[in-house]
Amino acid sequence: MQIRPERDGDQEAIRFLVAAAFGQEDEARLVDQLRADGDAAISLVAERDGEIVGHVLFSPMGAPFRALGLAPVAVAPDFQKQGIGAALIEQGLNLARNAGWEAVFVLGDPNYYSRFGFSVAAAKGFATPYSGPYFMASELKSGALKPPADVSYAPAFS
Ligand SMILES: CC(C)(COP(=O)(O)OP(=O)(O)OC[C@H]1O[C@@H](n2cnc3c(N)ncnc32)[C@H](O)[C@@H]1OP(=O)(O)O)[C@@H](O)C(=O)NCCC(=O)NCCS
Repeated sequence: MQIRPERDGDQEAIRFLVAAAFGQEDEARLVDQLRADGDAAISLVAERDGEIVGHVLFSPMGAPFRALGLAPVAVAPDFQKQGIGAALIEQGLNLARNAGWEAVFVLGDPNYYSRFGFSVAAAKGFATPYSGPYFMASELKSGALKPPADVSYAPAFS
């Protein structure tokens, strides 16, 4: 299995995979819109035997520090629970850190995302329409997350 940046020609396969993983088209459309808006800051695919079986996207957020939103992440149903989602997220976070991004926010299940360093506590004090028990943050640069502040997802999310 190889994790690599999305490249030209991957769009169709990514759309198909994301729709299959979520069982609906909304998240696939979100990926297309984020890309069209120039907001696919980090877009990685997992490829196995020439087939795209996973995808993760990070988009810039409005915030008083350099923040990304992690969403969506998708692994093809037949390939889930084999560590592909984890590999995509970990590589994405490493790329983000190396590119100077200071924090990442995610909306999801704390049981899953806590293993990557995300916590609900770290997101406390950052106001978005998604704030609550599923809204998490992870600091890539020590001291970057200074609440309170408003943070906002890329326009494609609204
Ligand atoms: C969520 C998803 C990306 C995880 O990818 P994956 O490759 O299956 O995950 P990994 O193999 O890295 O990790 C598997 C672990 O995550 C857990 N897990 C997987 N999806 C989970 C979810 N939605 N909520 C909580 N835990 C989840 C599994 O139970 C497993 O736990 P364990 O390691 O304790 O056994 C994948 O299941 C998926 O595409 N789901 C449908 C789309 C979705 O819900 N995306 C996330 C919201 S943006």
